[in-house]
This record gives sequence, structure tokens and C-alpha cells, in this order.
Amino acid sequence: MTKKLFVKTYGCQMNVYDSERMAEIMGEQGFRATETPEDADMILLNTCHIREKAAEKVYSELGRYRNLKAQNPKLVIGVAGCVAQAEGEEILRRQSLVDIVVGPQSYHRLPELTRQVESGKKAVDTDFPWESKFAELPQRQALKKDPAAFLTVQEGCDKFCSFCVVPYTRGAEASRPVPEVVREAQTLVEHGVRDITLLGQNVNTYHGKNHDGKDWSLAKLIWELSKINGLERIRFTTSHPIDMTDDLIAAHGECEKLMPYLHLPVQAGSDQVLKRMGRKHTVNAYRKIIEKLRRARPDIALSGDFIVGFPEETDADFEATLELVREIQYSHAYSFKYSPRPGTPAATRKQVPEAIKTERLQRLQELLTEQQQDAQQAMVGEVVTVLMERTGRKPKQMVGKSEYRHTVHVENCTMQIGDMAEIKILAATANSLAGAIAA
Ligand code: SAH
Ligand code: SF4
Ligand code: F3S
Repeated sequence: MTKKLFVKTYGCQMNVYDSERMAEIMGEQGFRATETPEDADMILLNTCHIREKAAEKVYSELGRYRNLKAQNPKLVIGVAGCVAQAEGEEILRRQSLVDIVVGPQSYHRLPELTRQVESGKKAVDTDFPWESKFAELPQRQALKKDPAAFLTVQEGCDKFCSFCVVPYTRGAEASRPVPEVVREAQTLVEHGVRDITLLGQNVNTYHGKNHDGKDWSLAKLIWELSKINGLERIRFTTSHPIDMTDDLIAAHGECEKLMPYLHLPVQAGSDQVLKRMGRKHTVNAYRKIIEKLRRARPDIALSGDFIVGFPEETDADFEATLELVREIQYSHAYSFKYSPRPGTPAATRKQVPEAIKTERLQRLQELLTEQQQDAQQAMVGEVVTVLMERTGRKPKQMVGKSEYRHTVHVENCTMQIGDMAEIKILAATANSLAGAIAA
């Protein structure tokens, strides 16, 4: 009898990737995916620790499984991901329903951990093992059959920005070897994938070894992947400004398969704040990178992340962030209130009052939303290339992504998932575009 696995994913795209790999490795143990926790034999929460609320959500979700476990004592409940890494055994103490705690670098050991639970013991594995989990995982299966997929090429972070937990939860920065990445990309393409987003907490620090014994840059990796027939689109995320090298910037102008979209977080528009964040660059340095990128690829769509209310952020610091946003013009961006994380240096500094954080976030989000709407509106009348990713809610409607990562709804469309077509944009809302096949 096949067993059922329910995976719930929180946090970043790297967790989305990891959840797919967990489903694949448990697939080899006879588990099939289910969309509902109620009929699952195993529940895995793949968690995020980046802000306070993220971790709290996990505990409240776990509480909801009490009845399920009462009805089915054999139900195995696992906590994976960055909360698992950060809290370890503490999770078992706080929530006795949990059987497995497994960190982001050791989930290839899930089958072993499951056997341990079946023999009556709780299982905790938050090692940063010497062996790479990637080498231990089964070949990529692309179970979801999406034409767009994620591919983790780099993990961990050595930058230790003063607000951030990632270096503690994901461990030291490391790159996967080039041949391993190429093989996985080929497998994905054989499964019908046409759009690959290369992932890493700091993906542009990528320096994977190739057969030549040399460390290859992300730009070289992208050029190599662009040779794969059937792979039409390459993207990468997330990048740090200080690793935005000239070869990578140039690739945006020269490599046809590299899409004109870049997520390049700046976090704040004040040099004092950037310094205290430990971001290792100034506002001007960031401006220069954006200028170079726009010179290489004038139509590039820019996205970013912002933190408001970082400790000691003044009104003037915050105004500088608004000023920078007005100057750059983002097509899309994420913004957050600073959330003190235990064990990070910024958590012990003088905090900005909550009410001020709330007000700043609201002002920044108003501006970013306005820019996003302008960017969407500017697409009306343009022709974009859309990769059809799913069927829409209406009959004969398809939904896909433009090269700039806009979501595009196409009416009266006889295309199939995975097809690409030139679409003329006829209307725009805040979050999506609507269009028709261009004549
Ligand atoms: N490596 C990426 C960011 C990864 S974390 C980079 O360096 O840009 C994703 C985003 O979460 C960050 O860009 C930041 O904006 C936000 N973030 C991280 N820690 C945070 C904290 N303690 N409080 C609020 N937002 C935070
Ligand atoms: Fe976190 Fe990114 Fe800074 Fe690394 S570079 S510490 S992941 S914000
Ligand atoms: Fe969250 Fe871990 Fe990603 S803390 S943002 S899931 S790296």
C-alpha cells in the first residue's frame, strides 16, 4: 500500500526546491504526495526562520494536527527547514506531537530518520554533514510537471548581515559542481521544463568546480546552461549587490536565454543603515550597479527587498530609502518591518518603536505599489513572450509568465501548458496583465 505525504512549505524559493526534493526522496520510500494533511501518513513542515512571525506560524500549524495524531497514532510529523535548524530539540520540548526535526542540510537522511521513528524513537538531525545532500538525493524527477522549475546551485551564506539568520540556519556558503548542475538542468528539460530559476541564498557568489578543475562563475554557468536545447529561459535569485560582477552584468545584455529580470535587494537607502546592517556596500555603489545593468539591458525589470525600522533608523535614513526607490523605479519589490532575531547582532541594538515601523512600512509599500502599478500599466500595448504555465479559471484561458516575470492571462487561447507565444498586452491590473495572441 502506498503511503501519503503532505508537505507544507514556508519561506523562500530554496525551501520550495527542498520540499520537492523531500517529496522525491520519500517517493522512493513508497510515499505519494497528497494535498491535504487529513489523509496523510506523514506530514512535513518545511519552515522558515527569517522573521519572528514565520516561526510562530509553524507552532500554530502544528497545534492543528493534534486531532489527526489522536485519530492516527502512526502519523509521522516532521519539522524541516530553518526553524528546525535554529531550534533543534527545543521543538520536541515545545510540541510533543513532533517526531522528526531535520535541518536544511540533512534532509537526505529523512528515510533513516523515518525508520528511527517507526522503531519508537524521536529523531533529530540538524548536522551540517560533510557529505553534500545533493550527491545523496535521487535523480531529479520534476514530479510537478511544471514548465518552470527551481534549481538550487548555491547554498548558505558567509556574509552575516547583522539582522539575518540565514548564515546560522543554512550554514557556510557552498556551490554545487558545474557538471552536477548541468545534469540536473538536462533532466528537468527532459521532463518538459523550459524555464529554470537558479537558486542560492547568495546565488551570484556561485563558484562551482568544473571538469577543468577551475571554479566557474555564475555567468559562466549560465552560458553553459544556455547551450541546453529546449531550455528557453534562465533566471537566478537571490543576488547580493557586492557580487554583481561585470561578466554577470554583461550576460544580461548578451545571453538571449537570460531573462530581463533581476531581484537585487538593497535593504535600505541610507549609508549609515547599510553600514550597521553589514551590507558591505554604499548606496552609490548600488546605484552604479543598476546603471551598468540598465546600460547592458535597458528594459531589465528590477525587483528588491527592503527592511524598515532597522535599529537606530532615523526619519532621515528612512526618507533616503524612499528617495532611492523613487530614483530606481522597481517593477516589483518586497518590504518588511525589521524583526529582531535571537543570536543576531542587530537584535541587541536600540530598537525602533513598533508604531514607527508600521508607519514607515505603510509609506514604503504605498510607493512600491504605485511603482508596480505604473510598471504593469506601461506594458499595455506591448508584445511580450509568454510561457504558458497553467490553465486559467475561465474556459480557454491560459496563464503564464512574460520574460519580465509578469503574470499574463491569455483569453481564447488554444495553447498547451509549456507552449510559448507572443502576446499583445491589452489590459493591466496591479498584479497581472491580460492579453491576446499577437497577430
Ligand atoms: N540573501 C539575500 C536575502 C535573503 S533573506 C540578500 O542578501 O539580499 C530575504 C529577505 O528577508 C532579505 O532580503 C531581507 O529583506 C529580509 N529579512 C531578512 N532578515 C530579516 C529580519 N531580521 N527582519 C526583517 N526582514 C528580514
Ligand atoms: Fe542574510 Fe543575504 Fe545577508 Fe546572507 S547576504 S546574511 S542571506 S541578508
Ligand atoms: Fe526562510 Fe530559511 Fe529561506 S530562514 S527565507 S527558509 S533560507
